[in-house]
Amino acid sequence: MKRLQDSPDQVFARLALRAEAEAWQPEEAFDWSRPIVTSLLWPRGLERRLLAQLRHGEAATGALCRRLCHEIPGQGAARFLAAQAADEARHAAAYAAYAARMGEEGAPDADLDEIFRAASSWSGHPLALVLAFNVVIEGEAPPRLSAAARLNASR
Ligand SMILES: [Fe+2]
Repeated sequence: MKRLQDSPDQVFARLALRAEAEAWQPEEAFDWSRPIVTSLLWPRGLERRLLAQLRHGEAATGALCRRLCHEIPGQGAARFLAAQAADEARHAAAYAAYAARMGEEGAPDADLDEIFRAASSWSGHPLALVLAFNVVIEGEAPPRLSAAARLNASR
């Protein structure tokens, strides 16, 4: 819980401790010996495409965290962002491992890639990037995935 006298960096430091304590490893978190069960209802290839977008998003978020390490002052912030970047790398690795078990991995959507690129080129206040990734891009993801599903279904 946030204490009123805490500085932002103290809040980041506490978040870093929690993130480090809760760090998980994909190879331990999942039983990779179990077979992949694909949906019979979804169009062929859709799951691979969705996984590719999720993995791409994790990688982009990790890159954002690494960038913000240099832009948000304070040791607590740096520690938290490093822990978060490592977490995003684990997420991306888990999606990549899952996709590899499904066979060929889908390609990142060009429009989604453009959104990440545009956000990453932001040169204003660094916290605007956090807002962009958490509110704008995350808010954009469900409609994009639905559009991808419709596009795939029409093939
Ligand atoms: Fe993630």
